[in-house]
Amino acid sequence: MKIKMPAESLTIKTEVVCPNDTNPVGYLKGGNLVQWMDIAAAVTAQTHTGMICVTAGISEVNFFAPAKVGDILVIEAQPTRAFHSSLEIYVKVALIDITSAKRTLIADAYFTFVASNNNDRSIPIAEISPQSNDEKKQYEQALERKERRKNK
Ligand SMILES: CC(C)(COP(=O)(O)OP(=O)(O)OC[C@H]1O[C@@H](n2cnc3c(N)ncnc32)[C@H](O)[C@@H]1OP(=O)(O)O)[C@@H](O)C(=O)NCCC(=O)NCCS
Repeated sequence: MKIKMPAESLTIKTEVVCPNDTNPVGYLKGGNLVQWMDIAAAVTAQTHTGMICVTAGISEVNFFAPAKVGDILVIEAQPTRAFHSSLEIYVKVALIDITSAKRTLIADAYFTFVASNNNDRSIPIAEISPQSNDEKKQYEQALERKERRKNK
């Protein structure tokens, strides 16, 4: 079985908040942000597996701070751990202050994708070899999160 490093499938997607993305008080709608996060995670899942993948679940979604029209967001998706046919991906969103280049974390979530090939869903996928301390921590905790989801 092939083994890949998390950074090999890192996806970075940039978005600018436009009027159509916002609610009546001018803040980015949560659903729009989750859609952008889902696309970044899908690219990561498909880059890691080399297969079409579908979203199986989204968990621990947090919105820490609002974004408004004109704000620039950087969405980063990186796999934490691969199981048999599924893959957990951590997605975080930072807002960039263009005057200082400071990044503020405004949202994060865990996405699970399942490799799917013409409805054959028991396809084994490449394993993940975490490198940094953060990646190792995410890798260890991914198993606990998977168990928690199963017991829901
Ligand atoms: C996700 C889906 C493929 C799972 O199918 P299934 O027959 O229940 O799959 P299985 O029970 O055989 O599980 C396959 C893997 O998916 C994982 N899985 C299934 N449902 C899950 C969920 N809700 N959350 C996280 N992981 C899930 C299992 O843990 C298993 O992982 P593993 O093989 O790595 O151990 C199926 O439910 C599906 O097609 N859902 C719709 C997907 C979709 O349309 N997404 C877009 C929504 S808008």
